[in-house]
Amino acid sequence: MPRVVYTEPDGTRKEIEVPEGTSVMQGALDNGVDGIDANCGGHAMCATCHVYVAESYLSMLPEMSDDEDDMLDEAAAERRENSRLSCQIEMDDELDGIEVQTPDSQG
Ligand code: FES
Repeated sequence: MPRVVYTEPDGTRKEIEVPEGTSVMQGALDNGVDGIDANCGGHAMCATCHVYVAESYLSMLPEMSDDEDDMLDEAAAERRENSRLSCQIEMDDELDGIEVQTPDSQG
């Protein structure tokens, strides 16, 4: 099963197996990772699942939709070049080991 390495706002790292086809957001919620709210339930409509993705994995992610792009402009924490909505990142074996950091605040 592919793994996600989450870094929480306080710097705690958690390596968690997330089933293929499950989003990085859902993997965080299911395993008590701090820093993800996911108020809209994964529909790219709230930006409270905002994460910073390690540069080496960015090019492996699906292209950002216009909805995701718009929502990231509304994110509570600073938008950076490596900002993505974690509900839009579906895990597969290729993404094994992906590192994401949750921001200090989601709202
Ligand atoms: S959960 Fe709402 S945008 Fe990802």
